[in-house]
Amino acid sequence: MRLGILTSGGDCAGLNAVLRAVVHRAVEGYGWTVVGIEQGIRGLMDRPPSARDLALDIFDGTLIRQGGTILGTTNKGDPFAFPMADGSLRDRSDEVIEGIRMLSLDALIGVGGDGSQAILRKLSQKGGFGLVTIPKTIDNDVAETEVAVGYDTAVQVATEALDRLQPTAASHSRVMVLEVMGRDAGHIALVAGIAGGADVILIPEIPWSVDCIVRRIDRIRALGRNFALVVVAEAIRTEDGKSVLQSAPGEAARYGGVGHYIGDRIAEGTGAEVRVTVLGHIQRGGTPDARDRLIAAAFGVHAVDLVAAGKFDRMVGWRAREIIDVPIGDVIDAPRLVDLDGPVVRTARGLGICLGDD
Ligand code: F6P
Repeated sequence: MRLGILTSGGDCAGLNAVLRAVVHRAVEGYGWTVVGIEQGIRGLMDRPPSARDLALDIFDGTLIRQGGTILGTTNKGDPFAFPMADGSLRDRSDEVIEGIRMLSLDALIGVGGDGSQAILRKLSQKGGFGLVTIPKTIDNDVAETEVAVGYDTAVQVATEALDRLQPTAASHSRVMVLEVMGRDAGHIALVAGIAGGADVILIPEIPWSVDCIVRRIDRIRALGRNFALVVVAEAIRTEDGKSVLQSAPGEAARYGGVGHYIGDRIAEGTGAEVRVTVLGHIQRGGTPDARDRLIAAAFGVHAVDLVAAGKFDRMVGWRAREIIDVPIGDVIDAPRLVDLDGPVVRTARGLGICLGDD
């Protein structure tokens, strides 16, 4: 058996721990060869395909501690509509499938978010190869699983940022705004905000008003506190319903910068001195925390076991302290947003945190 593995989409902490688990289980548990494909699906378009055998010696004791992915990845370039140098889009899916044949792969494990999983599934259906996927994304928006690899570390990083912002906020009597990632889901903002003692948390799932934030900051002042912490998810919209986006030449627009907009509104509304921190890719890098290493290990082992059992077109997941697997089709085009009636939102409201709408 030759098992291929690739990491796809934006990187996050814990991907190397997944690789370690997959290689260990496949080589030691089943005696297979594992082939690591480089730069995600893109590596399968290269000729020869960019790939290398991954043996047990990749685990030299440091790999589970390393951020990023030793295989490399990309979050650009759907092979079914691949952007060419002349600006056109070309279907290069046959080249990818041919790349899998050239590597003589019997099955593929793809580590990615829901977008990558959708592409990999289309490729597996077209190319007739067995596919198992492992969810990873700091955004934690993959359906059917409570956690994806990388999320917990991102929450930890955002919480630590609040731990560092609080003393300087208090020293200078300031309002500190922290903008965190998460794409269209507010999971990082909400959980880090609760853990880090935020007074206001704005998430894309809940429309906000500046009056509500001003009222909360006035109340904090009335209680005799001289600072406030505000956490803002990158995808919240401006008061007139616009997304704040960043763009670079040749790249799709991405979220970023709405924290400054909110900071200006707070300064206008309260007269407070406001400072804004955009946390950015710091949430993606660094050493994976213990929970991400555990999830990575559990997902890696289970994914290999699914391949061994011939159970394909399935994504591994974590639900109610169990490792599960579900049809990949169930997680596509169904991002898991914050449950507004769920325990985390209830907890935030119970703590008196302003979510922008009360
Ligand atoms: O999906 C992960 C993520 O980090 C999002 O939270 C963020 O919006 C986006 O990727 C950033 O993408 P890029 O790495 O292309 O800047």
